[in-house]
Amino acid sequence: MLDFAKFTTYSKPGPRYTSYPTALEFKDSFTYDSYINKLENQDKKRPLSLYFHLPFCRNACYFCGCNVVFTSKEDKMLRYIEYLKREMEILTKHVDTSRKVIQMHFGGGTPTFFSAKELETIIKTIKGHFKNFAKDAEISCEIDPRHINEEQMKVMSRAGFNRVSFGIQDFNEKVQVAVHRVQPYDITKKAMDLARKYNMISVNVDLIYGLPFQTLETFKETLEKVITLNPNRFAVFNYAHVPWLKKTMRKIDETTLPRPDVKLQIMQYTIKFMESHGYKMIGMDHFAKPDDELFKAIKKGELHRNFQGYTTKGGADLIGVGLTSIGEGAADYYAQNFKDMHEYEAAIDAGKLPFERGVELNEDDKIRQYVIMELMSNFKLDIGRFERKFKLVFKEYFADAIEQLHPFVEDGLIDMDDKHITCKPTGTLLIRNISMPFDAYMGKHAQSKKTFSKTV
Ligand SMILES: C[S@@+](CC[C@H](N)C(=O)[O-])C[C@H]1O[C@@H](n2cnc3c(N)ncnc32)[C@H](O)[C@@H]1O
Ligand code: SF4
Repeated sequence: MLDFAKFTTYSKPGPRYTSYPTALEFKDSFTYDSYINKLENQDKKRPLSLYFHLPFCRNACYFCGCNVVFTSKEDKMLRYIEYLKREMEILTKHVDTSRKVIQMHFGGGTPTFFSAKELETIIKTIKGHFKNFAKDAEISCEIDPRHINEEQMKVMSRAGFNRVSFGIQDFNEKVQVAVHRVQPYDITKKAMDLARKYNMISVNVDLIYGLPFQTLETFKETLEKVITLNPNRFAVFNYAHVPWLKKTMRKIDETTLPRPDVKLQIMQYTIKFMESHGYKMIGMDHFAKPDDELFKAIKKGELHRNFQGYTTKGGADLIGVGLTSIGEGAADYYAQNFKDMHEYEAAIDAGKLPFERGVELNEDDKIRQYVIMELMSNFKLDIGRFERKFKLVFKEYFADAIEQLHPFVEDGLIDMDDKHITCKPTGTLLIRNISMPFDAYMGKHAQSKKTFSKTV
């Protein structure tokens, strides 16, 4: 049995490692010209992964950490489509758009705030530029079940969308009211049924633990309800509470948030619950059935982590389109678009990509990125593989990190020998903490509490 009180001492600010280096290291020093140079010199044989940020929402969920523009103005959304079109036109000057597209994701905000007709226009523009979609491309969209209709699903299905994820977060009414997101079970079921009617291969859901008024008991009830919807995959996110960055989070009364020991209990229960219903844990916060392709990827050591979570499609260059979107050159750079709509539009008006800042990975970043992503994705590091890949002696290069990992060994969270670092089941709950010793930038941020959300 876990000593919950003891493990809560691990509750401290830490990155979620959707990237390494984290977004805090994205700087102006990675210039527009260097970014363009990177784009133009990418290996043409490398496939593309496309991310489109569709940022609009009507009302704020108080917990929301996404980059959202709240509006009910149709003309604002139409204007955004025009800018997306122009951004893509500029992009085609710098990227070989005949490269194979193996993945495309619509994220938000809520992409389905765009009507069926608007979504169709966006998709048509994309396919007008990127004509070489792989037959088995993974094409996915995030959907708020309260804002989806049959016409929209039809458009997506016709365009080859095969994965959708629905935001649920929690089914408990008191929790829903406290976070300003009332979403009855029936609405969610109807939306998921629609996705199945239109043959989406993977119908997934998002839950969050750590929200106001959640207890182990209420979350158990939520899980019982969600399981009746039979999702293909679950994302169960740890609530990232960063009110210094997100104003709407200030509306949450912090005294109503569950304590770290309760959160750990919820997560430990969730893992057991999922296993007893035939799901297995993938990485830090995902669950899927054992026949899911993610498991085949784990066996081959090919599971990857990126801004959208876990994926089998590594080795592609990710291009981000739209406000705030982030692109990633395979183990090479990260590039982020402007977060401010005026700046985003002004760049495009000037005929430039709306790139704001980023980071070019140096050798040390690449080495550490590999280790951190292995741990975050596979909960394991094969030291032999690392040494062959980088021609380095692991225990020499990471002498400091190894030292910092000893307490984790003593607490029974990991096993460490000359060949492997392996997370034990309890260690998986603290994988962010276990990865942090390999992060060269951690020291710089250690004094500040207002950087990352808490790991527990
Ligand atoms: C862009 S939203 C999904 C689509 C749609 N807007 C919705 O909410 O249904 C992406 C997901 O991020 C997760 N999320 C948002 N804010 C979060 C936070 N502060 N901490 C953890 N997860 C969060 C939620 O689970 C949410 O479903
Ligand atoms: S959680 Fe989804 S619906 Fe809620 S504000 Fe964020 S993006 Fe919009």
